[in-house]
Amino acid sequence: MTEKGIFDLSGKVALVTGGGIGLGRVFCQALAEFGADVACADINREWAEETVALIEKFGHRTLVTMADVSKPEEVQSMIAATVAELGSIDILVNNAGITTKPAKFHEMPIEDWDRLMAINLRGVFLCMRAALPVMIRQQRGCIINISSVLGLVGLDPEIASYGNYGAAKAGVVALTRQGAADYGRDGIRVNAIAPGWHTGTRISASWRSEWPAEREQRYHQLITERTPLGRRGEAGELKGLIIYLASDASSFVTGQVFVQDGGWSAL
Ligand SMILES: NC(=O)c1ccc[n+]([C@@H]2O[C@H](COP(=O)([O-])OP(=O)(O)OC[C@H]3O[C@@H](n4cnc5c(N)ncnc54)[C@H](O)[C@@H]3O)[C@@H](O)[C@H]2O)c1
Repeated sequence: MTEKGIFDLSGKVALVTGGGIGLGRVFCQALAEFGADVACADINREWAEETVALIEKFGHRTLVTMADVSKPEEVQSMIAATVAELGSIDILVNNAGITTKPAKFHEMPIEDWDRLMAINLRGVFLCMRAALPVMIRQQRGCIINISSVLGLVGLDPEIASYGNYGAAKAGVVALTRQGAADYGRDGIRVNAIAPGWHTGTRISASWRSEWPAEREQRYHQLITERTPLGRRGEAGELKGLIIYLASDASSFVTGQVFVQDGGWSAL
């Protein structure tokens, strides 16, 4: 294998949840570009089909599979469809996630807490739970969980209070560490990416559209000012990390959290 070959994903099958848009679409593109067959799972068929149309040019097999990650039976069907159509699951990217309207804990609607936990934390558990038997059978596999820098540090409430989101993303870190401990001897690596603020996605779009222009402007200004690199990341800048973690380049790496946040958490 050449040195460049350590990033090659030819012959591997990747499944990306929430692959229809945003970071998930970037992950699908990167994985296909480096040789993987890619299953794109989402609740939005139109977006998932758009992603698949974008990656077909790389010449590998693709699949659109519909699944709400908070629903066990849909997750099981997504895993079964991927194995039936593409033959295995070597790389699982647990990317699907949401935010709810910012609120401090004492003002947070309980339904917002429950809905977010169901998708951002329970969803990751359900997808790991369903994919792991396939990976154990294969005695190989790689799980990449998408956490957030907000799972590692708190946030100035002048920007926003995202306590339920941070709690879920911290839980994703714990799932990652315990997953690495439990399945290392089955040849399965489990790592997490904790992105900071990235553009090119629709997360928060539903409730942020209700903000007045000045609130939106202030939000961006505070984020940019507080970030050592002085800007938000672009979704495409996460390609390097996903390929590193999905490939043999990280063959001895497991149970780790990789932060990409322009220095946000260094302060
Ligand atoms: N954008 C950022 O700056 C940022 C920063 C840190 C972490 N993240 C995390 O990255 C992941 C992707 O976020 P994004 O910014 O690309 O968001 P996005 O809203 O642009 O995309 C999320 C995708 O997930 C899908 N989805 C939502 N609920 C789902 C469900 N129940 N089941 C299956 N699919 C579902 C959506 O349809 C969409 O395609 C999330 O886990 C998010 O928390 C994003």
